[in-house]
Amino acid sequence: MRGIVLSGGSATRLRPCTKVTSKQLLPVYNRPMIYYPLNTLVKAGIREILIIVAPEQAGHYLNLLGSGRELGVKFTYEIQDQPRGLAEAFIIGENFIDRENICLILGDNIFEDDFSAQITEFKSGGHIFVKAVPDPERFGVAAVDAAGKVLSIEEKPSAPKSNLAVTGLYIFDSRVVEVAKQIQPSPRGELEITDLQRWYLEKGELHCSQVAGEWIDAGTFDSLLKAQIFAKEKMQDKMIL
Ligand code: DAU
Repeated sequence: MRGIVLSGGSATRLRPCTKVTSKQLLPVYNRPMIYYPLNTLVKAGIREILIIVAPEQAGHYLNLLGSGRELGVKFTYEIQDQPRGLAEAFIIGENFIDRENICLILGDNIFEDDFSAQITEFKSGGHIFVKAVPDPERFGVAAVDAAGKVLSIEEKPSAPKSNLAVTGLYIFDSRVVEVAKQIQPSPRGELEITDLQRWYLEKGELHCSQVAGEWIDAGTFDSLLKAQIFAKEKMQDKMIL
């Protein structure tokens, strides 16, 4: 299993803090934000990690994270020159993925859980991680039946079929690269990760787990503040980075 941290985008919601730096380099208590998703991958035993960044900040990421050698991991870097959508990560990462299974995590997603079991046990298909939230319309939303089978996936629906947000951690087999190349941009002009999930869903190959602990998408000022406090109180003993 290889890992990708998607850490590009323009983060206009966090201006002016992101005018001269990247959102995922902002501090979340005592570490840059990207340490938290990186920690999730490294703790799960992933040793080869591709970090996708916007061109303006590529040098900062290299200076901060380097080769990964001291951590016993190998970081590779790629540039996403425009935020064309989350699914583009698999096109940019095609050579890196190289027919392996791939775990993608968003650079602004902070998880309390340890996903080692699901990541180690993954064989093929797709796997998403869902969490009940009070405001599902802000996220990808999964409807799931009593047996845990995914029934539908929708991106930011105005009338959500459930309160289960699809969090920013995804595992796919290497077919995802070809699927990502085939999908078309959505009305908002992005290659949507929900379209990739739907491809696996239609084949009956999309699996789903519930996130038990805290999950924060730190992309707004309020969620960033929440993440800071959570990181101080609950994450310190869970970090190996
Ligand atoms: O946080 C989970 C949600 O992430 C999912 O529930 C949604 O299904 C998924 O579409 C995504 O929604 P967001 O509205 O949060 O996506 P956002 O555009 O904020 O991008 C998420 C992160 O990925 C953010 O840190 C910036 C980075 N990004 C985004 C885009 C569109 C990139 O690096 N490149 C991109 O092209």
